Amino acid sequence: MKKLILTLSCAMILTITPALLQAKTGEELFLKNCKACHGTDGKGQTAMGKRLKIKDYTKAEVQADFTDEFMAKVIKEGIKNEKGKKVMLPFEKKMTPEEIAEVVAYVRSLKE
Ligand code: HEC
Repeated sequence: MKKLILTLSCAMILTITPALLQAKTGEELFLKNCKACHGTDGKGQTAMGKRLKIKDYTKAEVQADFTDEFMAKVIKEGIKNEKGKKVMLPFEKKMTPEEIAEVVAYVRSLKE
């Protein structure tokens, strides 16, 4: 019986851990780099978010407006407004392509 329980717990840890680690990394990266403007919940209801008219990423129609590729590009290269002023900074030097992919996945998970 003990052996069975041990085997089962090992199997559970092995299946659950990678998923948890991945979710955490995307979330951690978002909370570290994006929340100042996009908010902890991705709704963009921050002082900066309101001023820059950031969209609400929990909304399905907002999420449908861009592809994963576009998101990755924006995170990598940043965004300039019509006057050429940087409103979102590029994260190219701060994040690896793998980390950018994880943040993209995290932004997708914000959809309600
Ligand atoms: C300095 C403030 C700021 C930070 C920090 C920031 N953003 Fe942005 N972001 C903006 C602004 C402003 C826009 C353009 C307004 C909009 O489209 O909602 C934008 C747009 C975007 C878009 C494109 C949405 C669209 O419809 O065009 C995505 C995706 C995005 N940000 C994700 C992120 C992620 C992920 C991070 C963290 C790695 C991040 N942003 C960090 C300000 C910021």
